[in-house]
Amino acid sequence: DKGGWSSFMAKEITENPDAVANTVRGRVVDGLVEVPELTELGDDVLNGINRIILVACGTASYAGMVGAYAIEQWARIPVEVQLSHEFRYRDPVITPETLIISISQSGETMDTLMAVKYAREQGARTISVCNTQGATIPRESDAVVYTHAGPEVAVASTKAFVAQITALYLIGLHIARSKNTVDEKELRRLAADLQALPAKVTKVLETGEKISQLAKWMSDTPSVLFLGRHVGYPIALEGALKLKELAYIHAEGFAAGELKHGPIALIDHGQPVFVIVPSPRGSALIHSKVVSNIQEIRARGARVIAIAEQGDAAVLPYADEVIQIPLADPMFEPILAVVPLQIFAMELADAKGLDVDQPRNLAKSVTVE
Ligand code: M6R
Repeated sequence: DKGGWSSFMAKEITENPDAVANTVRGRVVDGLVEVPELTELGDDVLNGINRIILVACGTASYAGMVGAYAIEQWARIPVEVQLSHEFRYRDPVITPETLIISISQSGETMDTLMAVKYAREQGARTISVCNTQGATIPRESDAVVYTHAGPEVAVASTKAFVAQITALYLIGLHIARSKNTVDEKELRRLAADLQALPAKVTKVLETGEKISQLAKWMSDTPSVLFLGRHVGYPIALEGALKLKELAYIHAEGFAAGELKHGPIALIDHGQPVFVIVPSPRGSALIHSKVVSNIQEIRARGARVIAIAEQGDAAVLPYADEVIQIPLADPMFEPILAVVPLQIFAMELADAKGLDVDQPRNLAKSVTVE
């Protein structure tokens, strides 16, 4: 039931705040993150892990990329992300100290299931991040951390994506606590910031009207580029994927630092570029580098739409449009920054008269390899 919304996707985007809140619920105890499903796995197991590989496909792999920055930073364990269908065929080095975290909304993606089975056969520990109770991938894993986004009907993933990122933050903070790699005061601050996120996501939904206008003006654009850095990079990739899937427009996401290694040649007069601007409160250096990227592409005629935190005055002189997101811990910004991009893709597809819930050629869960 669309509950009065024009599409399931529109409804599911408005459910983003609940997806985050419900995934955090019950996993912060006395101000500290504690994921019961991981406690069951045992602290000795977690503390013995020396390498983490996140396996997933599509949007779930971008959630994995965000999670990798967070888990590695907090837990001080090397983390990498591999596409499930690439992972299995590269003869990966796996030991009993390797932890495989699979991420799948449906829990039925065949490529990811096969990756998990393969990793288990090789002796790895496996955790599944999944949105569907009782699905196959969780049943094949040592532990499961469910995301509680609720059923996602639209083919394009939205609320499940923010819930996946949330679950990975929780896993990262749980391991960091167990390994003592982040001090308690900081763990408390991060847990509180995580709990404050849903209200901020609600605030971001208010930008919907402005984005809808933007999408209408841009409905005949043949290509859109997305730039991001650090945790903003996977969000650039996700923004591009959403637009390809829904609006059938050529879209690409880049790490902003790659610009001068090739992609800047694509910039021509009027080329729309979304830039996810990292908070200056995180790394002032990274922030200033992204601001100079904006200047570089602007000088070559790009039309810049910046997604930046409130009060970031540095981008104002250079951006054609600024979409403001509330302040959060810089690691948590992807959850806020992705929402305008979800809305943009939906609105642009809608402006082109396309079916946003059932894009052509796609299935909600890909159960073949
Ligand atoms: O069910 P899963 O999370 O395993 O699905 C993975 C991808 O197929 C999925 O995220 C796909 O990329 C979506 N259509 C993205 O919107």
